[in-house]
This record gives sequence, structure tokens and C-alpha cells, in this order.
Amino acid sequence: MSRPGRCGCGRGEGADAVRDRGEGGAREGGRAEHQAPWATAWELLLPAAAAPARQRGRALQSALRDAVRSGRLVARTRLPSSRELAADLGVSRGLVTEAYEQLTAEGYLRSDRGSGTWVGDAARSGVRTTRDLAPRTPGLRVDFRPGTPDLSLFPRTAWAAAHKSVLARLPHHALGYPDPRGLPELRTALAALLTRRRGVVADPECLVVCSGVTQATAVLGSLLHDRGERAIGVEDPGSPSHGPVFTSVGLRMAALRLDGEGLAMEPLYRSGVRAVMATPAHQFPSGIAYSARRRIELLDWARSVDGLIIEDDYDGDFRYDRAPVGALQGLDPERVAYSGSVSKSLAPGLRLGWLVVPERLVDAVVERKRTMDLGNPALDQALLADFIGQGGYDRQLRRCQRAYRERRDALVGALEAGFPGTEVSGIAAGLHIIARLPARHGPEELFAERATRAGVGVRLLSDHRMPSAGAVDRANPTEGPAGNDSTVRPDPSGSAPATPPGVPGAVMGPTGPPPSTGGPGAPGGPGVSLVLGYAHLTPSEIARGVGLLAGRAPG
Ligand SMILES: Cc1ncc(COP(=O)(O)O)c(C=O)c1O
Repeated sequence: MSRPGRCGCGRGEGADAVRDRGEGGAREGGRAEHQAPWATAWELLLPAAAAPARQRGRALQSALRDAVRSGRLVARTRLPSSRELAADLGVSRGLVTEAYEQLTAEGYLRSDRGSGTWVGDAARSGVRTTRDLAPRTPGLRVDFRPGTPDLSLFPRTAWAAAHKSVLARLPHHALGYPDPRGLPELRTALAALLTRRRGVVADPECLVVCSGVTQATAVLGSLLHDRGERAIGVEDPGSPSHGPVFTSVGLRMAALRLDGEGLAMEPLYRSGVRAVMATPAHQFPSGIAYSARRRIELLDWARSVDGLIIEDDYDGDFRYDRAPVGALQGLDPERVAYSGSVSKSLAPGLRLGWLVVPERLVDAVVERKRTMDLGNPALDQALLADFIGQGGYDRQLRRCQRAYRERRDALVGALEAGFPGTEVSGIAAGLHIIARLPARHGPEELFAERATRAGVGVRLLSDHRMPSAGAVDRANPTEGPAGNDSTVRPDPSGSAPATPPGVPGAVMGPTGPPPSTGGPGAPGGPGVSLVLGYAHLTPSEIARGVGLLAGRAPG
């Protein structure tokens, strides 16, 4: 394709020549830095120049306007003189002058006698580039940060087959606005799956399809807020994904420490909250499974305060040493709202999950879901229903289970070799481990810095501490603690129900609850406590990453 001759990009010159000239021009006071964008925008004007004579003027104006709006011509780009542009496009000079004048009048261009015409600043605000907000750090050689499954295991062939068969048989009406609860066939398939695999008491009528655990949390959180709750208990250490969601619906977080069996009951009773979010099957991030006793104590607490437990079963399908423990919800479906998603089993990008709620909350939850988004995309739901029905979901879980078990073993083995004396804690489950490296590798911050310099992404367990603020005021539960922090610590004064039934030694001393260190995976002790994800890494990537952390050159 030919290039304009007189306006900065010589006819017949290649892109490299244009780029070279632009760089040189930038050194000469910045003038030519505008030439490269002009060179591409110029091509946009060519069709206008070829328009029939009577439409040519308007076509030129509209092409120039589009080039500015779309960002092809960025603010302050200097335009060629009307004579140069007319010659390059093969149109009359009057047409170009008219176009410049019109767009200057509209605010797209600016011109000054003597200094020519350029793209105005106003254009800047109208031009937006697309930013990718996905959490990702470029430049890492190996990334152990937790949370991602192996996306290359996504069953593309089976998914494509399901897509084809679903589209072939889906009636037209199924493409209308969906039932906000979710497609009946998906709710039925999920209810059966969750009953069978996770021991959930799942009536399809109480199951709502939603966009992951995150939306389930937002729906329930906003409902709790509407019903007068102002704070919610969260595990400490806990998931960074819960906090912002609760904050966004106006709930403060009561950070509740863990002990070896799960959420410590004393701080929970003292906190005064009536709702709590927990990960009983595989606590995130410490990796413990709640003991049978603690599950019962937690349900007793919920009954005693007429409260609600939100169960986040984010990775409950993956257990490598024995069958997974069933969901807490199965023990009392009226006190527990159960949520899960395909984010760890298939792909988080599908944004598909589920919420099984106590019967008394169903209508309110469905209404909230309706007002949020009118329901999840019908086609995606039909696909997942088909995939589950054809046995694809079970096959996928088996496939991932095999791969992840192998990767967990590879990580544990590599740590033993690279960091002798490392303790791996938590159950053999999920997509991450907690590893406490011996103290000689610390302090933690320095270890993290060294890891970054070596190009290895790691997450410290201390990064999962929940931020601290004041206490819940049960006397005035609508008011928060002083300040803007949305997290509350258990109230050490004991204004909340003081005697948790069946919890020995529950009455706190005058100094309040023990500090939030010393529980499982609690940061603060000697050593370097890391949360390491492994599911998305091959065994050789794992070995390489641990080698880099240990200061060994990659092989
Ligand atoms: C513990 C935990 N819960 C919930 C979520 C969010 O899951 P979803 O993709 O289903 O919204 C995450 C995300 O990684 C998580 O780690």
C-alpha cells in the first residue's frame, strides 16, 4: 500500500522506516512523535477520498472524526497542512480545509494561524483503551500464588460437543429472559450432583444459579444488611475475595481467629455477629478441615443467635488422601447457606456457581438475584447442565484430581529437597498448601523480596490476615466502630452472649481473647509461612520454581 509523500511518511516506505523516523523525530523536540499515529490514521481517510464526488466532503469529515473518536488519532497529533493532505488523498484542497474547519468547530481539532492544525485535548476524554483487569503479574518465571486451577485441563472437546448438541435442541423460548433462579434442568442436575458428591441437602427449589461464590456472597451479604445486620464474622486468616464483597454491601467484618479445629468459638460468641462466612471443608488458606466437634459447635452457635452460616465450599471436591468430608450444610440446611462454583473444577472465567439457601430465604434471594442481573446466561447454563448430565463433570473432577495429587506430591518433595526442615500443614486437599520454611530463611519480607527478584510469585500467609478495627456494638448494632475500617475484632468486653453452650473454658479473662496468633497457619511464629498454589503448575515447573526460591540456577 502506498504511503503519503509529504506529510511525514514517505510514499513506499515500510513501517520500520516510519518507526525509525518517529524515534528520531522525538529526539528533535517531539515533532515527529505525532507522525506514526498519523500514518495509520491516514489509511482510514483513503476510502473517504474514493467516495463519489458529491459525498466526498462529508465522508472525509466523518472519517477524520472517527479517527479521533476511536483513538487512532490521539490528542495533540499534528495534522498535515491542508495542501499536503489534499495532494496525498487526491482531493481538492477546499474539501480538506472545509473538513478541518468543521471539526475545529466541533472541538475535535484545534488550529492556530502559523502553527497548523492538531487533534484537540477534548478528544482525550472520549478515547478509552481497554484495560485488562485480570490479576496477573508479567515477568514471573514461576507463579506459586494460589487460586487458579490448571486451565489447560479445561475439557474443550467435550464442552464444544455440549455446545453443539445444546444449540441444536434448545427451543427458541429458552433464549428468552431466563428464570432468575437458573434453568430448571441445571438446578436439577446441580442438586443431584451436590447431594451425591458433597452431601448437600439440595432441593432444586432452594438452589439458585449465580456467578460464582462471589455473587452468592454479594447476594447474601446485601440481604443480611437489609435485615439489619451490620457486621459479619470472617475467618482470620481468610480469603481476600470475601472482604471487598461484604464491604461493598455495607457489612463490616469481624475477623475471627482459628484454632486447630476451625473457627475458635469464644471469639465468635463474643463478636456479637449473627452471620459468619466459613470454609469448613478446607479452610482457606490454613488448609485445615473443621473437626466434627467444631461443626456441631458452629451450628449450635447459629441456632443460639438465630444466625446464618455461609459455607464457602470453594474446592471441596479435591481431596487426595480420603473421600472429602461432606458439606456442613447437610447437618442443618436451615442454618447454613451453601455456595460453590466451577471456578476450581472447570475455569473461573465461566463465572458459574450455585447457592443453596434455607427455605425461608429463597424468595428474597431470588428477588435479589433478579434485580442484580435477571439471571445467568441461559446458554452457559444449558451447557453446564448437559455437561453434568453426560458425566463430563465427574470425568473432569477425576482428571483434575489425578493431576493435582501428583503436583502436590511434587511440591512437597521439592520443598523437602530445597528447604530441609520445612513443615507442610493442612489436609491433602485443594489447590494449595501451607509451607513453613525454617527460620533461617526469614525474615518473611526479605524472603518475599528475594522470591520476587528471582522471578517467583509467592504469597505469605501473613498476607491473608484480616485487617483490624474496633468491636461490634451489640447495644447499637447499626453503628460501626470509629473510623472507616470495615473490619471489627471480637469485643473483649463480653457484651455479646457470654456463655457459649457446650464450649469449655469459653468465658474470657479481662484481657479479652487471645491474640490472633497461634492458631493453625497463624503467622507470627518463627519461619517463613507461605501459601503455595500448585494446581496450575506442572511438576517440572514446580521443581524449577522451588529451585529458584532456594537460589539454585534453573537447569
Ligand atoms: C476461598 C475462596 N472463596 C471464593 C472464591 C471466589 O470464587 P468464585 O470464582 O466462585 O467467585 C475464591 C477465589 O479464588 C476463594 O479462594
